[in-house]
Order: sequence, then C-alpha cells, then structure tokens
Amino acid sequence: MSASTQAKSSKSPAKPKSRPARRPAGAKSSARVVGGQVVRKPAKTGKSRAKKSSRRTAKTADKYELYQLAVQSAETDVAFHRNVYKSLRGREPLHFREDFCGTGLLSSEWIQLSKHHTAEGFDIDPEPIAWGLAHNFDELGEAAQRYTVHLKDVRSKGDVPADVRVAQNFSYYCLTTRTELLEYFRAARADLDDDGIFVIDLYGGSESNDEMEESLRCSGFHYIWEQAEFFPGTGEYVCHIHFRFPDGTEMRRAFTYKWRQWYLTELRDILADAGFSQVHNYFEGTEKDGVSGNGVFRRGRRGENCPAWIAYLVATK
Ligand SMILES: C[S@@+](CC[C@H](N)C(=O)[O-])C[C@H]1O[C@@H](n2cnc3c(N)ncnc32)[C@H](O)[C@@H]1O
Repeated sequence: MSASTQAKSSKSPAKPKSRPARRPAGAKSSARVVGGQVVRKPAKTGKSRAKKSSRRTAKTADKYELYQLAVQSAETDVAFHRNVYKSLRGREPLHFREDFCGTGLLSSEWIQLSKHHTAEGFDIDPEPIAWGLAHNFDELGEAAQRYTVHLKDVRSKGDVPADVRVAQNFSYYCLTTRTELLEYFRAARADLDDDGIFVIDLYGGSESNDEMEESLRCSGFHYIWEQAEFFPGTGEYVCHIHFRFPDGTEMRRAFTYKWRQWYLTELRDILADAGFSQVHNYFEGTEKDGVSGNGVFRRGRRGENCPAWIAYLVATK
C-alpha cells in the first residue's frame, strides 16, 4: 500500500483502491467474532493459489487468477457473512447466494464448510463462470454439486431463498440508475429467506473520488487500481485494474468498470424503499497507528470521517 495513503482499510476493495487489497497474494485470512465484533486478520499460513508466481509475465498470466489473488479474500468474507448471520439469528446459515459471482470464489468457499452448505451464483458473463467452474469447483469433486451457477441477471429468481445473499466488491455499482438499483434490491428482498440477510459492501471517503492510480505488491506481480474518471454531477466513475510483472510487461486494463459511485445514505434509503425493515452499518475500526484499518468490522451508526473507508451494509427483511 502506498505510504501516502491516509485511509484505512484492510479489507480490500476490490478495486479500490487505496488501501486495498484485501490481503497479499496467497495469504490466508481468518475472521472470528470477538465480543460481537467480526475480526478479520491475516493468518500465518495459507494455501497458496499462486503457483506460478515467479514466472508470470503479461503474456502468460491468467487475469482471473490474478484478480482472485489480488482482490478477493473469500475465506475472510465468508467468515464475515456467516458470523453476522449467526449473531443476528443464532444459528448457522446454510444457503448462500452470490450475485455478480464471476468465478464463484465465495460460493466455492461456502460449500466447503459442510455437506449442508449450498450455494447459487448469478452472473451474465459466461467467461468468468466457465473459468470458475474449471478452477474453483472441479477440484472439489462431489461437493461441487452443491453449487448451481446461473447465467442470468442478478434480478432473476433463484432456486432456493437464500439465508445469506451478497453482492461483493461493489459490483452493484454497475447499476447506475436509482430505478435499476431499486429493482435489484426489491428482487433481492423478495427472493430472500424470511430470516435471511442481504449484504453489500461499499467504499467512500474523499480519496475514493480522486483520479489516481495505486499499486499493490502481490506475490510475483503488482496489482494496480486506477480511478480513471469521476464526475460529481452524475456519480459516473470509471476504474481499471492493471497488472505489472517482474519482467517489466504489463497487462493494461485487465478489468474496466463503468460505475456509479453510490453513497451510504443513498443506499440505505433505497434499501428501505425496497422494503428491507432494518439496515445495519458495519465500519472497520482503526489500528493503534491511528491510520490503518484493523480488520475489525463493528456495527455503528455514524462511522468515522477518514479519507477512504470500507463498510458493509447488512439488510434484513
Ligand atoms: C467485479 S466482477 C465481480 C467478481 C467477484 N464476484 C468479486 O466479488 O470480486 C463483476 C461481475 O458482475 C457481472 N455482472 C455485471 N452486471 C451484471 C448483472 N446485471 N447481472 C449479473 N451479473 C452481472 C460481470 O459479468 C462480472 O463478472
């Protein structure tokens, strides 16, 4: 993370940014609940999905593998979702729905929790879905049967109402009008189990609107988050992910996002309009240095005004 960064957040934005990436490539994370707080901390050891790290170049690297390594922290996210559900409902959630699932990494983590854990994923792009089935599910054998992926819009109905339904890494920012977002939130509520929770993440703070580029060192490559354009009048927000390799080659614009940046208060209002009865904010706490995020997400109403922050909204029916 850049030394210039004053923002906090150990969760990554997937993109965002700046304090990013959820964790170094190949590192394993664990989350646990301590006194009602969800604690997300890197663990000492971990299975490494970064097998070819020293040999990667722009020509040989696989963009989905790099994305998963640099941006996602499935174990930590799933622990968060599960722990929040357990703290609200007092029991284990079993059915998971991953909207904007792409490669389905979160679902893959979820179904490995037990033979009773099932998941559905929704995405409109067959390419990441196919990559995910080959790389995240094939190796699971029988367990992979507990995952159903739908090549469908996130507003589509699923097979089973979810206990936990998520839209992670700001993916819903691609819904750029209030009408579209309301339609999605309404569909999410309608298709949720009565005790289910709907979880979205978001990020904000003054730096989230800066046009800037930030580089994060991962194992065998650099992940670069570029906030290319932001228009305050419309909230239009264009971001790119690039990857840079030790031989000097670059994979430019491996992923491009044309988003609208949604604000927390707008999102709360739209969730309420969609019929959710309660929406809880979970903000990340601060390390002793007073600057970095500490990986502990606590329920809070007002949050803290720092230059870049990440939060979850957890909505209940
Ligand atoms: C940033 S990727 C998310 C990858 C991964 N799930 C994560 O959390 O990092 C966004 C995904 O959303 C998908 N997507 C965009 N609009 C969608 C829609 N309306 N319905 C379903 N999927 C959509 C894209 O195809 C893409 O795979």
